[in-house]
Amino acid sequence: MTVCLHIDEVPIIVEKGTTILQAARQHAIYIPTLCDYPDLPAHGSCRMCIVDIQGRPNLPTACTTLAEEGMHIQTNSPKVQALRAELLQMLLAEHPSSCLFCPEKSHCDECMVTLRKAGVTTGCRSCSKDSQCELQRLVEKLGLSQADFPGRYRMLETQKGDPFLDRDNNLCILCGRCIRICSENHSAVSIAYTNRGSETLIGPAFGQTLLEAGCSFCGACIEICPTGALSEKTRKWDGKPDKATVTTCPFCSIGCQVDLLSKQDTVIGSLPAHSTGADILCVKGRFGITELVNHPTRLKRPQKRVGQEHLFISWEDSIRLAAEKCAACSPGQFKMIVSADCSDEDRFVAHKFTQDAMKSDQFHILSPAIGANEAAPSFSLLKTSQSLNILASASTILCLGLDGNFSQSVVAVKLHQAQTHGAKIIAVGSQTNRLSQFADLWLRPIPGQEPDLIRMLFAQPDEITQFQLSSVAQAARLLKAATDLVIVISPSILKTPNTQEFWTAVEQCVHEFNARLIFLPEGNHSIVNTFQSPSPLPDSTTQIPEILYLIGENIPAELPGHPFIIYQNIVSPVSTIQADLLLPTTAFSETEGTRISYAGQVLQFHQAVPAPAETLPTWQILSRIAKEMGVQGFDYQGLADIQFEMATQPVRVEPGHQTGEHDYLGFPLTRWVEGLRWLVPNENVKTRNAYVHHS
Ligand code: FES
Repeated sequence: MTVCLHIDEVPIIVEKGTTILQAARQHAIYIPTLCDYPDLPAHGSCRMCIVDIQGRPNLPTACTTLAEEGMHIQTNSPKVQALRAELLQMLLAEHPSSCLFCPEKSHCDECMVTLRKAGVTTGCRSCSKDSQCELQRLVEKLGLSQADFPGRYRMLETQKGDPFLDRDNNLCILCGRCIRICSENHSAVSIAYTNRGSETLIGPAFGQTLLEAGCSFCGACIEICPTGALSEKTRKWDGKPDKATVTTCPFCSIGCQVDLLSKQDTVIGSLPAHSTGADILCVKGRFGITELVNHPTRLKRPQKRVGQEHLFISWEDSIRLAAEKCAACSPGQFKMIVSADCSDEDRFVAHKFTQDAMKSDQFHILSPAIGANEAAPSFSLLKTSQSLNILASASTILCLGLDGNFSQSVVAVKLHQAQTHGAKIIAVGSQTNRLSQFADLWLRPIPGQEPDLIRMLFAQPDEITQFQLSSVAQAARLLKAATDLVIVISPSILKTPNTQEFWTAVEQCVHEFNARLIFLPEGNHSIVNTFQSPSPLPDSTTQIPEILYLIGENIPAELPGHPFIIYQNIVSPVSTIQADLLLPTTAFSETEGTRISYAGQVLQFHQAVPAPAETLPTWQILSRIAKEMGVQGFDYQGLADIQFEMATQPVRVEPGHQTGEHDYLGFPLTRWVEGLRWLVPNENVKTRNAYVHHS
């Protein structure tokens, strides 16, 4: 059903239920706003969006008023202009405005080497949001040239007690966007209005810090803040970024798409890549990336150990030294440990180097949550793991071991959205956490008895009653009534001693209820590792290699024997044991590559900034060492060569791996090749993969 109306004399037809603001935006008619934000419920607090509706005595707000048949609306009549300017002046009476009205404003720009320096030198324009502030833009847009009302500086102390953000309530305009994004979209209630009247503030209740209030630090409130009231500690004074590059967060198996913000070839921040549909990042993706890639201990040149010291050497010398040591290593006495965060291409070349150049089967990707368990999970079950997007259509969601805190805040948001659309959520976990707070049912198994609880959930109703456990019986009934059951598993629940029993119980449940599964391993290649190496890593006390080659992993705190340690990483090692050779690699933000997500999707790393100093990609370093050793098959000109080989290589049978499966280290190559064809904008790769498919 539609309604017809006129906005600024433009005839408009919109769906019934559309607000005047939405109707105007649909037809590119500008109405100023401050408290409004797309996808958040209207708030109606700033009153910047007032409009003049023919026949109405007052000036209603466009964001809260529905479009009605036959309305004639003026968005900028003299009456509207006058009241809007007055409302804005009132707002500015409580907001520092030297950045808006200072007569020296233009000179300030000339001598502004950095924001911080300008602030210190002139005593003004010291707001971290200068030139990115919505209030500033609005004042300019509405042509306000002076403050009419006397200003009241509230003299509130900037809150600096939280780890990632500062809160300056002097700059807050009480638009409530941060409260709404926290409660509406992210299911959290970390912040609220506090105090009353002219003393109203926004922040955690009872003077707590955000940390104490249970915030998971997704940073959405900072992104949505229209002024400088909320700012990121680390990039508070970096100013506006030059560029945003869409890439994949490397920190867990989900692989969220991030906008990597850079300025003068340095990464200064990361935001959810909204252009790809991402709406939230976890604390690691939001605040950890900048700190990692700009870490003060970043390795930038190769070094070798001489006595107790590390001396800088050239790449030629370091490659020669590594090749000499590797060539002299006894067969099978070489051990490679690779980080779960590295790209598929790096992992592929590292594995090939171990097998072909070193003739060793000691290749490991560390995945603590899974590798530490003695029993191997069901491979065929894990391979069915699907995308988090299936939560949107689920009728019931059984969450095993999920907490929804910090690094799982991305999942918590999806669960909350599903719940808003009617899904019932059953959380199974022994500790109180964010998920247990908003789940419809929370079941607390005694640690170690998780399999028993899961079996109980699928028992017959009379068996359930016999347990007299009302919440378990309630959950069992919910599961039986489910039309579309999704089971989400976090590896933390695998810390039970009965892992095999746990998987058997889950498998029964999947079959009995035709459930779909989402398995969320912690690391990038954790599923791969699970398939490849069901048994735990060999005990280092019984197997001491001659060479220990670590890629992206730290040197173990205790290491029996004295292997030659090659440490290849982006940052310096944290260990009392010294590495013999330090090789600096590029970070994920400085190179290209792909990786497989928990759901088998191929995701891409894109280079956002140049590689610093002498750092090189992992695959290049390994290829150069192999070539120096005289080993054939490492003559890669670029990533496309590696990807081609990954897609065309003959099937290898790994230890503990089923024969006859057409995959490499556990993930189906067909999925990878298919993904690559669509995702890699490289003609060369497309042609080669087309060849693969036709041959
Ligand atoms: Fe409508 Fe703020 S945008 S009242």
